[in-house]
Amino acid sequence: MSVFETVAHRANNALIRPRRVPLPWVPSLADRVGGRTVLITGASSGIGRALAVRVAAAGATTLVVARRADELDVLVREIHARGGVAHAIVGDLSTDDGIDAVADRVLAAWGPPDVLVNNAGRSIRRSLANSERRLHDYDRTMRVNYLGAVGLTLRLLPGMRDRRSGYVLASSSIGVQARLPRFSAYVASKAALDAFMEVAAVECLSDGVRFGTVHLPLVDTDMIGPTGWGGFAPLSVDQAVDLMVDALRRQPDHIGVPLGSLAATGNRWMPRTARLLLHYFHRMVPESSASKGLPSVDGIPTDPVADTRKGAEL
Ligand SMILES: NC(=O)c1ccc[n+]([C@@H]2O[C@H](COP(=O)([O-])OP(=O)(O)OC[C@H]3O[C@@H](n4cnc5c(N)ncnc54)[C@H](OP(=O)(O)O)[C@@H]3O)[C@@H](O)[C@H]2O)c1
Repeated sequence: MSVFETVAHRANNALIRPRRVPLPWVPSLADRVGGRTVLITGASSGIGRALAVRVAAAGATTLVVARRADELDVLVREIHARGGVAHAIVGDLSTDDGIDAVADRVLAAWGPPDVLVNNAGRSIRRSLANSERRLHDYDRTMRVNYLGAVGLTLRLLPGMRDRRSGYVLASSSIGVQARLPRFSAYVASKAALDAFMEVAAVECLSDGVRFGTVHLPLVDTDMIGPTGWGGFAPLSVDQAVDLMVDALRRQPDHIGVPLGSLAATGNRWMPRTARLLLHYFHRMVPESSASKGLPSVDGIPTDPVADTRKGAEL
């Protein structure tokens, strides 16, 4: 292993843990969401699922959205068994009809939610060198990560603005802060979402609706399951949910981990050095097996067009 690889692994592993600052005066999660309605997209697995359990335990009516009805049903039963309240809304946020169906159901049954967590997402790890005829990668990441979140927000926002309260939170990625190589489709879709959230925050400032973005580092979910990330240790799902809960409690514009701040600062103030380091990183991290057309490690289909549920191409 090269010195650069060792330093990169150590930097990641030391700097992706969120800073722990005790904030006793900040409202608890129960203060923020107890008795309120929280809609979480991408709740059938990973971070969204664990966040739904946490939010329901804090007393929220939790609306969980994803395509897999069976996984959502298991989640809703689990929450009910713990004494919480949850409802499954099955829908595909990558289509206009799917977004409308979810929004119509939510507005008819519960009205605009108090908190909307735009967490549904998919990732693709593929270098530009292997993307010559793969515009569809950019299309499908945009459809879920950007248009899915924007479409749902546009439908639910008017009611939140009329009510003059609400918080919209987005699951973004440290990849945006770092400009992570091999993730151009994914990073661009999340960067677009970041920009939308910032403009929305400006427009809605006097309406009582706030917007926040979480720049998550590598997290140990299905999304990274089929990938070799070598010595890069991910956050656990619980640690990632701690970040999301911190955001729901403090309702900041942005929340992330030290490595993301370091990467953003480097890109801002030392762009050439940052680019050189990222280029080394690009050469160090291999293409995912799926993106090279090889069978993925756990047998997940690697059809380049099929929207396989797991992030087989991350
Ligand atoms: N894991 C990481 O390292 C990492 C790092 C940075 C950011 N993030 C972000 O964190 C969020 C959660 O990801 P995760 O790591 O928890 O991955 P995950 O376990 O794969 O969860 C992704 C969720 O998105 C849902 N989803 C995907 N496509 C959808 C569609 N078309 N319509 C509705 N729902 C859809 C999936 O549900 P169905 O398949 O049932 O539809 C699933 O519930 C994503 O936005 C991701 O980009 C993750």
